[in-house]
Amino acid sequence: MSQRLLASLALVTVTATSLNAQADDQVDAQALFEQNCTSCHGSEVYTREDRRIDSLDALHSQVRMCEQNLGLTWFDDQVDAVTQLLNREYYKFEP
Ligand code: HEC
Repeated sequence: MSQRLLASLALVTVTATSLNAQADDQVDAQALFEQNCTSCHGSEVYTREDRRIDSLDALHSQVRMCEQNLGLTWFDDQVDAVTQLLNREYYKFEP
């Protein structure tokens, strides 16, 4: 098989995957989080005694800040979903 054909096959696969992600309009927060957010800190920063985050708003801003530092360009619904995930698992702020 030629290199060029292989390359276009790979492209088709990538395109199909991103279309699927759009069709199913649920954001997979768990996957986003595991792929992007576990290399610098583990859950200990969310549960430590002197954690800095003290409200849902602050949590949302921090998720946005870490995400931007990483250059990820997430959409709002992705930031929202990961914020909800962290809140559900660790912070437990009232909405
Ligand atoms: C490049 C390293 C890095 C990555 C990757 C990273 N963070 Fe962070 N994060 C930090 C640093 C540094 C802090 C500040 C830690 C401190 O205050 O001691 C922090 C703090 C936080 C806090 C606040 C913890 C507290 O005090 O309550 C949250 C929430 C957080 N990160 C979420 C995320 C999310 C969500 C992602 C994935 C988008 C992510 N981080 C990826 C570096 C990173």
